[in-house]
Amino acid sequence: MALRNIVKDGDPVLLKNCKPVEKFDSRLAQLLDDMADTMYNAEGLGLAAPQVGIIRRAVVIDVSQDRSGLIELVNPVIIERSDESQYGTEGCLSFPEMYGYVTRPKTVKFRAQDRFGNEYEKEVSDLFARAVCHELDHLDGRVLPTYIEAPYEADESE
Ligand code: NI
Repeated sequence: MALRNIVKDGDPVLLKNCKPVEKFDSRLAQLLDDMADTMYNAEGLGLAAPQVGIIRRAVVIDVSQDRSGLIELVNPVIIERSDESQYGTEGCLSFPEMYGYVTRPKTVKFRAQDRFGNEYEKEVSDLFARAVCHELDHLDGRVLPTYIEAPYEADESE
């Protein structure tokens, strides 16, 4: 298990447009393993490479309850978005104080590569779709404070 430091608000690496992954080697495998360890340790649903200071297009996501649904997205691209949208709350490990509402497509279909360079496509909905959109935004330097629509107030409805 190798944890990496999660880059926090104010670090310019979070605003970079990430470069494609070109080498599917042991270094990439190590990065993806470390990103998963770091995500699980921080109890996050997803983590993008720039959040550990690496300006490459790589993401890990696990939205399962029992933390057994790890998926790796290398050079991911969203190829279809549903017209139907979802409005819900989002947080980010790089902005631990921030939590609020964001509109996302209800369903997205993406194309990505695995750690060996094999291309795959997957269609996901609801929380999984939200996580894909959030993490892919990171790869283009788009971060939560720039697109949050309304803050979540803990004492608002609960
Ligand atoms: Ni994030």
